[in-house]
Amino acid sequence: MTGDLEGQWPLFGLQMKMGDVSLSPVREVDLPALARMLPADAEQDPTSSMLNGLSIEENRRRILAQSYWRSWASWTVESWYIFFRVTAGGRMVGIQTLEAEHFPALRTVDSSSWLVADARGKGIGVAMRTAMLALAFDHLGADAAVTSAREDNLASIGVSRHLGYQDNGTSKSLSPSGPCVLLHMILHRDSWLSSRQGTTVEVRGLDACAPWFGVEIVPQARVLPNRKRRIPERAAT
Ligand SMILES: CC(C)(COP(=O)(O)OP(=O)(O)OC[C@H]1O[C@@H](n2cnc3c(N)ncnc32)[C@H](O)[C@@H]1OP(=O)(O)O)[C@@H](O)C(=O)NCCC(=O)NCCS
Repeated sequence: MTGDLEGQWPLFGLQMKMGDVSLSPVREVDLPALARMLPADAEQDPTSSMLNGLSIEENRRRILAQSYWRSWASWTVESWYIFFRVTAGGRMVGIQTLEAEHFPALRTVDSSSWLVADARGKGIGVAMRTAMLALAFDHLGADAAVTSAREDNLASIGVSRHLGYQDNGTSKSLSPSGPCVLLHMILHRDSWLSSRQGTTVEVRGLDACAPWFGVEIVPQARVLPNRKRRIPERAAT
């Protein structure tokens, strides 16, 4: 272990790359820019409490920062949560999260994501979720990935369907606009592996993180040249 922060906390050195889209853990220095970018439709934890005296936007920015700090502070081998900053064409455009509860036993990951408005609809949502899934399935040995979205969130559901997630039931949930129906979806390891969707994702810096995940890390699989799959060339500037 070296004396610098990356040596003490090797998760900071993790990086996934798919075409022009890169993911690396959010650092504290990113928070002001991410807070400015945070779109009104990015879903937040419905259990988060709101502070009186702050506007909705100020509360949402506070919750983003507090959730980020909590994610590192509460890390255990069993349960962990990573906020990845997403860049496309070198420009920061949003967040992709990856989380797990009792991962060594359950081998199931969950995720959430958001993009700034002008980066949407260009395949970046698919690319960042693919990068996250490659880390989970191909390197951490996940058995399943689950996700949930409001049933009217066609973009989020579109990303999941594109990647082969199957419907896995519905539930009612509370949202700032009142009760809503959540669609739950699941992607199993066999489907992911047979689709070979992870073969264009490059993962770096994972070896040093092995003790943090408590599972055997699978070495980098060969990254194949891009084939027919749509990978964003360049994000809007
Ligand atoms: C969800 C989100 C991250 C998706 O990213 P994106 O870059 O817009 O999605 P993509 O361009 O990769 O599109 C993914 C798929 O969904 C489809 N899709 C995208 N937007 C759609 C829409 N509004 N209606 C219907 N389908 C849509 C696309 O056609 C594509 O499917 P295909 O590749 O099979 O044709 C982004 O739209 C977003 O930030 N939304 C607001 C925040 C949010 O809702 N986050 C998810 C909740 S956890």
